[in-house]
Amino acid sequence: MTIKYGKYEIDQGLFLAPMEDVSDYPFRMICKKLGADVMYSEFISSEALIRDAEKAFKKMTIKPEEHPIGIQIYGNRIEAMVEAAQIAEEKGPDFIDINFGCPVKKVALKGAGSGLLQDIPKMIKMCEAVVRATELPVTAKTRLGWDAENIQITEIAKQMEGVGIEALAIHGRTRAQQYKGEADWEWIAKTKQAVNIPIIGNGDIIEPQQAIEYLDKYGVDAVMIGRGAIHNPWIFRDAKIYRETGIVPELPTIEERVNILKQHYLYNVEYKGEKRGVKEMRKHVSGYLKGLPHIAKFRARMVRIDTLDEIIEMLEMLKATPHIKDLIARIDKEDNEALKMTCSTEGDIC
Ligand SMILES: Cc1cc2nc3c(=O)[nH]c(=O)nc-3n(C[C@H](O)[C@H](O)[C@H](O)COP(=O)(O)O)c2cc1C
Repeated sequence: MTIKYGKYEIDQGLFLAPMEDVSDYPFRMICKKLGADVMYSEFISSEALIRDAEKAFKKMTIKPEEHPIGIQIYGNRIEAMVEAAQIAEEKGPDFIDINFGCPVKKVALKGAGSGLLQDIPKMIKMCEAVVRATELPVTAKTRLGWDAENIQITEIAKQMEGVGIEALAIHGRTRAQQYKGEADWEWIAKTKQAVNIPIIGNGDIIEPQQAIEYLDKYGVDAVMIGRGAIHNPWIFRDAKIYRETGIVPELPTIEERVNILKQHYLYNVEYKGEKRGVKEMRKHVSGYLKGLPHIAKFRARMVRIDTLDEIIEMLEMLKATPHIKDLIARIDKEDNEALKMTCSTEGDIC
C-alpha cells in the first residue's frame, strides 16, 4: 500500500526512526543522502512547545532537502497536543506524528508516550482531536501494548483508523520490555491484516537485507530503522542496492566514510556550535568507522578532540594514509612526543 504524505507517495519505504538526541537535522541530512525515504523529528514535548521553549522550537528545524518529514509530538493533555500540532504545522512538515511509544519513566509514568497504552480511550480521543486540529496527515507511533498481558495493538490500530490516523508505526515490543528481548514482528503482521491504513514495522533491523526481507515477510508498507542506522548509516543505500540486485554491497571505502563523517561534523557544528557539535558527534563516530581494521586507537583519539579543525585534520590524515596501521604508528609517535613534552614542562617522572 502506498503511503501518502501530501504530495509525496512512498512505496515500500525505508524510514529513519525518530530518536531523541540522534535524529536531529544533521543526522537526518546524512541518512537522506544515503537513501532514507521518510524521516521524523526527535519527539517534542507539547507542553514545551506551547510554553514557547527555545529548545523545543529548535527541534522543529527542517531543511528543504529533508521532505517528506514529520514532526513528532507527545504529551498527556489533549488541549496541549492540539495546540502543539498547530504550532508544528506552521514549521512546514509533511505530517504530524504522535508518540505513544516512549517508555522512559519521566514520560510514560506521567501519562504521555507509551503511558497512554494504559488509557486507550484517551489515546484515541487525543488522535481524534489532533486529526481535527491540523490540515496535515496525522500518523502515530506506538508499541504492542503496556506489557505481555496487555497486547492491544490490533484493537488500537483499528480505533486509530476509525478516527483518521493515516499511518501507524509499530515498534514490536511492549512498554514493559523497554528495549529488552526481541521485537515481535508477528504482531506487527497481524495488525497489518486487521486494518486498511498503512503499517510501518519497526524493531531490530540491523542488516540491509533484513529491511527488504521484512517488508515482504511481514507484509508491512514500510520499515523503520533506528539503532541500525546509528551503527551503519549506509543501511538505507545498501538495502536499496540489495533490493535492486540481490547483492549486499561491500562496506564503504575509507574515502566514502571520511567524506560522509566530515559532512556530518560540519552539519552538527552548524546546528549546535563548535563545542557541542564536535562533542555530540562522539556517539556517531563508531558507526562510520565500524569494521575498519586497527581503527580502535584512531577512534579513541577522535573522541578526545574538541575542535573542528583538528577533527578535519585527523579525517584527512585517515583518507591520505592507505594503511591504518601506519597512521596508528604516527598517532602513537605523536602521543609519545606530547607526553614527553608534558613531562619535561611539568617536571613529572614518567
Ligand atoms: C537513542 C534513542 C532515542 C529514541 N527516541 C525516540 C523518539 O524521540 N521518538 C520515538 O518515537 N521513538 C524513539 N526511540 C525509539 C525508536 O524510534 C525505535 O522505535 C526503537 O529504537 C526500535 O527500533 P530499532 O530497533 O530500529 O532501534 C528512540 C530510540 C533510541 C535508541
